[in-house]
Amino acid sequence: MLNEKIAAALNLQVKLEAQSSQFYLSMASWSENHGLNGTAEFLFRHSDEERQHMLKLVRFINERGGNSVIPALPAPKNKFSGLHEIFENLLAHETGVTESIHKVVDLCLQVKDYTTHHFMQWYVAEQIEEEALARTILDKLNMIGTDTAGLYLFDRDLGTFLPQDSSAA
Ligand code: FEO
Repeated sequence: MLNEKIAAALNLQVKLEAQSSQFYLSMASWSENHGLNGTAEFLFRHSDEERQHMLKLVRFINERGGNSVIPALPAPKNKFSGLHEIFENLLAHETGVTESIHKVVDLCLQVKDYTTHHFMQWYVAEQIEEEALARTILDKLNMIGTDTAGLYLFDRDLGTFLPQDSSAA
């Protein structure tokens, strides 16, 4: 049976992953409406991945005898000044997600729930990749600055980027 504190922490994480999915969906929609179709594709895929992260938690909570509660979500931000703001927001959001995951891991150790601790390691590793990817993208955007040809190519390349190509972001 899942410890009550762990169940509450995991349910909070369900909410955060769901918020991530909605936030990236909102960014994807904004990008698609502003001629940034490559960025939109990248963000639509990213939003789907976050939904999978949420589902994985929901299934785990229920499998361990907990009760996964599907939360209400606040509307995500839906206006952005451009690509820089989108990816700055994305990195800040992921940094917050990482902190939250670390808190769950810490709690697992406190209550000696080694099964959930093991399960959470997948999320710890995923966050390393997601933060690194967001930083690489921001570095590239900072290099490009306001050069429109550079931004055009950046957007085009992001549309065909697949997460396993971490060197190509
Ligand atoms: Fe599921 Fe991007 O954290």
